[in-house]
Amino acid sequence: MLAILTGAGISKESGLDTFRDADGLWQKVRMEDVVTPEGFERDPEQSHNFHNALRRTLLSGSIQPNAAHLALARLEKEYPGETLVITQNIDDLHERGGSRNVLHMHGELLRIRCRKCAAVMPWTEDLFTSTPCPKCGAAGSLRPNIVWFGEVPFFMSEIEAALRRCSIFVSIGTSGNVYPAAQFCVMARHSGARTVELNLEPSNQARVFQESDYGPATKVVPAWVENLLKISCIGVVN
Ligand code: APR
Repeated sequence: MLAILTGAGISKESGLDTFRDADGLWQKVRMEDVVTPEGFERDPEQSHNFHNALRRTLLSGSIQPNAAHLALARLEKEYPGETLVITQNIDDLHERGGSRNVLHMHGELLRIRCRKCAAVMPWTEDLFTSTPCPKCGAAGSLRPNIVWFGEVPFFMSEIEAALRRCSIFVSIGTSGNVYPAAQFCVMARHSGARTVELNLEPSNQARVFQESDYGPATKVVPAWVENLLKISCIGVVN
């Protein structure tokens, strides 16, 4: 089984900002204000505005899956074994690129959750504190279905099972600053997986990977996939 962790770097060449690069989102807004439960309690409108802007950009039509997303979708179809994308990204570019086996551990921008009735719903509009919950009618109860700092990521038991089971773990476009994702390589290595980092530059976790290739995701990911499919079809990898 092949476990693939992705981060903001894979969507950068599609036109979406990363978080910690010099032109990243956390240079423009204070994360404490917009992506923490405390920030949301203090000023929900500011947090909604931040997510509304990201959602509008994602749906603008100019943002499309790139060659790296497409290569991972190809891998899911052609790899002679199971593949799982574990993404920290809240965009839907893996799905639009054709991947089906995807876990959004930090949630999704195109879903909202009611804090009153707990319903989770698809959402493509702006969200305001005055927007009533489509399910229970409560006002002021809706929030993006996104994991903010201080909250527990989604799908952790599925992810831990995959990390125990995988024979290859590849990390793509993530700076390795945010836990628990930052420790997935070590967890996979403990289970005997071969570990690979594909990133623009060595991440904070670079030293724990056995193999690496550095460059833009649209170059290094398709090349890695091509090579993996070549060797797996002659039986070197299963
Ligand atoms: N190709 C490959 N990698 C790239 C590219 C590119 N074109 N451009 C940037 N990168 C790399 C950067 O070098 C960096 O290591 O992508 C990484 C992006 O790192 P972050 O901005 O920290 O994004 P990520 O690791 O996904 O952040 C994790 O932090 O704030 C939170 O919840 C948010 O899910 C996010 C989490």
